[in-house]
Amino acid sequence: MFYLGHMLSTLFVLGHNAFKSGKSITLMHFLTLKDFDKGFIEELLNLASEIKVDYSKYKESMANKTLAMIFMKTSTRTRTSFEAGVTKLGGHAIFIESRVSNFALGALKDEAKCISRYTNLIMARVFGHQQVEEIAKASAVPVINGLSEYYHPCQILADLLTIKEKKGSLAGLKLAFVGDGNNVCNSLVVGCSKLGLDVAVAVPKGFEPMEKNAEITYNVEEAVKKADIVYTDTWVSMGQEKETKERMKVFSPFQVNKKLMAKANSDALFMHCLPAHRGLEVSDEVIDSGQSIVFDQAENRMHVQNALMLRLLGGV
Ligand code: CP
Ligand code: NVA
Repeated sequence: MFYLGHMLSTLFVLGHNAFKSGKSITLMHFLTLKDFDKGFIEELLNLASEIKVDYSKYKESMANKTLAMIFMKTSTRTRTSFEAGVTKLGGHAIFIESRVSNFALGALKDEAKCISRYTNLIMARVFGHQQVEEIAKASAVPVINGLSEYYHPCQILADLLTIKEKKGSLAGLKLAFVGDGNNVCNSLVVGCSKLGLDVAVAVPKGFEPMEKNAEITYNVEEAVKKADIVYTDTWVSMGQEKETKERMKVFSPFQVNKKLMAKANSDALFMHCLPAHRGLEVSDEVIDSGQSIVFDQAENRMHVQNALMLRLLGGV
């Protein structure tokens, strides 16, 4: 059960009155972890663990409920984990690919408003973060950020659950992020610092994260020293394809390979949000090693998102 205090503070921060079928409701959106406190995140992780071990209690918890999934970028894990997750909770998910819908013809706020009249929740993967904010502003139902240029909060919920499962607890651990300081890195800095993990980020100059609650260094070995977790992400995020050539050059000293992993703690884990570009940001020997927990991370996307959807729908 969630504490009333968390609920009230969160609703106060995020809530606004919206009208659906003439009824006034208070909405809570999930656009960035910055809007949520430690207690809220911990409760979500606990709920996710409970759901994960036994879905039977929750199999009707989204009965007659629909999730709209708006995709302006491609996806494997986000689409599949949300869609399969909704099925496990007894609901229905609609995949809305922006290029074959009318987003190019109508104003984003108008399209979002219409979608929210048919559905109970919206998840959106967008280019600019302001697009998911615009969808949330127009929506009569809660909106979840499924990745924007600034943040990827669902990924970090899954990551925190995975670390907790593997290490037993979160506070006091050191996570080293090596690579590009953008959406995944920003959300890691926010989520980890709220839950008491120390974060060291090693980036090339000019690729620092927007979120600063971390040790920022340009030296990879310094970042991974004494790390319990080494995390990386692609060097070329979706939408940055034109910069590929330059990025390959700048990021080449930032590969996570066996030599770098040897500088971390001997029981350090390797994490990656995926998709991974083998031979670039990570070597095959690391991603395929016993230290790698990338597929557990991927699976946990579904369980944490299911907990999140139930929470936003107000059913738990
Ligand atoms: N990690 C993640 O969000 O994967 P997709 O881009 O495949 O959805
Ligand atoms: N930084 C990557 C994350 C993919 C899950 C991107 O935005 O493409």
